[in-house]
Amino acid sequence: MSKTRLGILISGRGSNMAAIAKAIQSGLIEGAEIAVVISNCKNAAGLEKAAEFGIDTAVIERQSRSREDHDREMLGVLNSRNVDLVCLAGYMRLLSNSFIEEYRNRILNIHPSLLPAFPGLDVQRQAIEFGVKYSGCTVHFVDETLDGGPIVDQRIVPVHDDDTTETLAARILEQEHELYPRSVARIVRGDYQIVGRRVLHKSAALRGS
Ligand code: GRF
Repeated sequence: MSKTRLGILISGRGSNMAAIAKAIQSGLIEGAEIAVVISNCKNAAGLEKAAEFGIDTAVIERQSRSREDHDREMLGVLNSRNVDLVCLAGYMRLLSNSFIEEYRNRILNIHPSLLPAFPGLDVQRQAIEFGVKYSGCTVHFVDETLDGGPIVDQRIVPVHDDDTTETLAARILEQEHELYPRSVARIVRGDYQIVGRRVLHKSAALRGS
């Protein structure tokens, strides 16, 4: 059977991308390969990490273009590499509606909070300032809403009294590196069904129908 081809979009460090690449190497993710890593920043540290894994990379900067034009170029690269599933891994730009439409229900993102709490940016600081006792991370499908698409899976992380944004972010990131590869493995296996807003295991979806 042919492998599911992943296209990973990054803007920076790329540690979640590396976690997915490691999980493919170790066999945790079966039946998938990374076709390309695309960064919208030429200085993204993740580009070197991807090259160390022997993964093809591309830099596609937005420059002064519209979001649509930028995304069209990315779609061209993803299509030319026959990408089946797009994984956002610290990709710091919103995608255009036409991009989301073309890859409908085939774009995943990882977000460092327990959605729907704290969508958007700087969310570990928001979690501490709000005073929540637990935060975490969420893998979700991407739709036109900001961090609002159907949730694939989540991990809970406690917030400690002496946490700074950095210590909380680091504790959440450890969980991200476990959660994202497991979620990708499940989506690649096809063990899911989207029912309304809910992402169910296939067996559960069948029981409910
Ligand atoms: C992670 O915290 C992820 O949840 C968020 O951006 C950060 C990316 O980190 N979307 P990295 O580039 O994967 O190291």
